[in-house]
Amino acid sequence: MNLFPLRKLPVQLRLLYIVILVPALILGCRSNKLTDYHERGAIACTSPIASEIGRQVFIRGGNAFDVAVSVGFTLAVVYPQAGNLGGGGFAVIRDGTTGRITALDFRERAPRAATEEMFLNEAGEVVAHLSTYGARASGVPGSVAGLHELWEEYGSLPWGDLLTFAARLADTGFLLDEYLAKALESHRKQLQGFPETANIFFPDGRQLEAGERLIQKDLAATLQQIASEGPNAFYHGRTAALIDSCMKRHGGLITRADLMDYTPFWREPIHFTFDSLNIYSMPPPSSGGIVLGQILKILEPYDFSSYTPESPEYIHLFCEAARMAFADRSAHLGDPEYFDVPDGLLNDQYLAARRAKIVECRAGSSVEIQAGNPIHYESDQTTHYSVCDSDGNMVAITTTINSPFGCKLVVAGAGFLLNNEMDDFSIKPGFPNVYGLVGGEANKVEPGKRMLSSMSPTLILKQGQPFLITGSPGGSKIITTVAESILNYTRFDLTLAETVAQPRFHHQWLPDMIYLEEGGFDVDVKQTLIRYGHRIRERSPFGDLQMIAIDPAGLLEGASDPRHGGAVSGY
Ligand code: GLY
Repeated sequence: MNLFPLRKLPVQLRLLYIVILVPALILGCRSNKLTDYHERGAIACTSPIASEIGRQVFIRGGNAFDVAVSVGFTLAVVYPQAGNLGGGGFAVIRDGTTGRITALDFRERAPRAATEEMFLNEAGEVVAHLSTYGARASGVPGSVAGLHELWEEYGSLPWGDLLTFAARLADTGFLLDEYLAKALESHRKQLQGFPETANIFFPDGRQLEAGERLIQKDLAATLQQIASEGPNAFYHGRTAALIDSCMKRHGGLITRADLMDYTPFWREPIHFTFDSLNIYSMPPPSSGGIVLGQILKILEPYDFSSYTPESPEYIHLFCEAARMAFADRSAHLGDPEYFDVPDGLLNDQYLAARRAKIVECRAGSSVEIQAGNPIHYESDQTTHYSVCDSDGNMVAITTTINSPFGCKLVVAGAGFLLNNEMDDFSIKPGFPNVYGLVGGEANKVEPGKRMLSSMSPTLILKQGQPFLITGSPGGSKIITTVAESILNYTRFDLTLAETVAQPRFHHQWLPDMIYLEEGGFDVDVKQTLIRYGHRIRERSPFGDLQMIAIDPAGLLEGASDPRHGGAVSGY
């Protein structure tokens, strides 16, 4: 079946199709739903346009994997803050036919020429912004190979059809929403530092307002090539040549050989039980699954029945568990191809010993473990989407270019932004990355290595049946956001809509601080936490949960976080 049968139509009809269908879809998105129920298939995603494309793919007979691929490419067009061709990501998926759950790693890799000292000056000091801004910050992109691998293994509709709509949105443009307009404004100075980026996002030097059209002709051509030639167009063909010259022009390290070498990996997911649930999340090179597992397993024996999601006693226990889990993250987690991740990080006895260090109503101290550094938080980046269909196929994908708009550099002629994922390495032992995370040996820069991530796409089964899909952006805050979503839905019995809206808190060992969403917690809660000995700081909202719950009868309920204008769609 041809999903978008444009090539068969005469030119005039093609034009009509574009002129009528594209605005119809965009206008159709005006009635965005934050929660909704569907029978055949559901999608929760940060972009209402991408959600709507997902629905169209379901309507045309696509399965959850087809939808996931199509949405991934659409996000690269309509959500350039984090959707991408120039980044990477992870998928945790369930094949409804066999019931098998696997994890797909399409994380970026360090180029072959990368070295441990590549972000340091001759005195061994970190050069400001080198790991976050411009070509050198970029790892070898994995998204195109990853989405193709997912389609090849599980897709049912023709590959090219799944990309056609994204290509068309890039070609004819789409209407900016207030979130993208605001993000462009906030990052204007850095984005305008590169003419190839400025030309696209600031046409004629102008700030685009919400409601104006963003057209990306080069990106459309790149997508069309990937649609017709597959990932070779990106890793071997024209796009590879354009990335190569971009790197040469801007002092980056990625070569054509790096691109040709890139392959995604299928991995065994991290699996653990929590209460009666079976939880599956991302293994290294993500820290997500292990840190999530440690937090939940440390908390499992506690009785929450007298707590609410805002009780200081609960927030305290959660943060103490997170403190320990993030301390382990810093020492023990890295790319398993380069570093021996110890067994036993989810061992019951080990976690019982860690739990025994927690004192109720009294804050522990991260200073006793290791001194921290001041933190600089970036706003939310990365993006997560969840897809499920009535055949039991489940897809959780978190994808990223790291900071908003990645390294801010567009590959000239190819029209997409490159990531700044090299900053997720420990660029110098003890030096905090943009999320304030510190690391050492396990996550040092090495050629070809995948940088440690916090992305935690997660699937949950109950009594062997699909039960919940969850995931979020937010750097280090991804893991606590996902852990809280699971606790809020399963332990505190919040509805799915309440779960995605619930105020969040975060602790990551260093800095030794509880971050609370501004306006989310009463003064009593904050005072009690201070009395326990915690340092607290309020900050702007974080996370962007996109969840799907499946009831025993198979009804699919989606919920999209109200913080970022996402939408649930389905069929
Ligand atoms: N770049 C954010 C992460 O992978 O955790």
